[in-house]
Amino acid sequence: MRILLCGYGRMGKMVERLALEAGDTVVERIDIDEAARWETLEKCADVVIDFSAPGALKPLAAYVQRTGTPLLSGTTAYGPEEFAVLDALGAHAPVLHSANYSVGVALLRRLLAVAAPALMPGFDAEITETHHNKKADAPSGTAKLLYEAIDPGHNYTPVYGREGLCGARNEKEIGIHALRGGSVAGTHTVSFFGPDEEISITHRAASRAIFAAGALRAAAILAKKAPGRYTLEEILFGEQ
Ligand SMILES: NC(=O)c1ccc[n+]([C@@H]2O[C@H](COP(=O)([O-])OP(=O)(O)OC[C@H]3O[C@@H](n4cnc5c(N)ncnc54)[C@H](O)[C@@H]3O)[C@@H](O)[C@H]2O)c1
Repeated sequence: MRILLCGYGRMGKMVERLALEAGDTVVERIDIDEAARWETLEKCADVVIDFSAPGALKPLAAYVQRTGTPLLSGTTAYGPEEFAVLDALGAHAPVLHSANYSVGVALLRRLLAVAAPALMPGFDAEITETHHNKKADAPSGTAKLLYEAIDPGHNYTPVYGREGLCGARNEKEIGIHALRGGSVAGTHTVSFFGPDEEISITHRAASRAIFAAGALRAAAILAKKAPGRYTLEEILFGEQ
């Protein structure tokens, strides 16, 4: 696989290391200082792998539209505007975005899609996420994904931390809480608290390598797909 990297930070370098170990090639690396190169770059790769920042998306999207190069994006902190750009790009190339490329988290989402309707209403759901002290955004993109898996119809209200005299918990709340410290690669716990019983499911990433490995596994499948907007579940598990 010939890979074009957008963003050459911690994740970009990790993807490169695992790709080279697997015999893939990194043909280009475009970080913030080289962003102007998108305008003139020809099609040169089987897939673009993007772990950068939301500001990178505009010129990257123009490149993908112009060349039809498949795009795997792992950048987080996207809002509705960026997701609309990715959706529109699906007309020109295979496009996949996930805030978490670990196979374990993909499975956790499927488990939550079963657990949440079985337990709620009646049980109170709360999400905690823990990350290293360099992480810029909160809550994590993964916590948002897990939230979506619990409440796809948006019938609940997310509550980000609690402080002061905030009153009793409303049954229509789902708490999302961010812990930051050290070098934690990413821990997510979803708890369902019922009367006199609790179910908690935790996913722990021991290193960031799982995200890079999952991204490379998904990229190999995505590169062979027709243009369209795909989810990680569709790519990994063949779900529609
Ligand atoms: N989806 C996942 O599985 C997953 C896993 C880990 C991290 N992430 C996300 O990936 C992103 C990168 O994470 P990281 O830990 O590598 O961060 P990082 O800060 O180490 O690296 C980000 C890189 O992107 C570059 N960049 C910033 N703006 C750019 C632009 N406009 N054009 C090109 N490059 C630009 C920065 O200079 C930096 O080198 C973050 O959004 C993070 O939350 C996703």
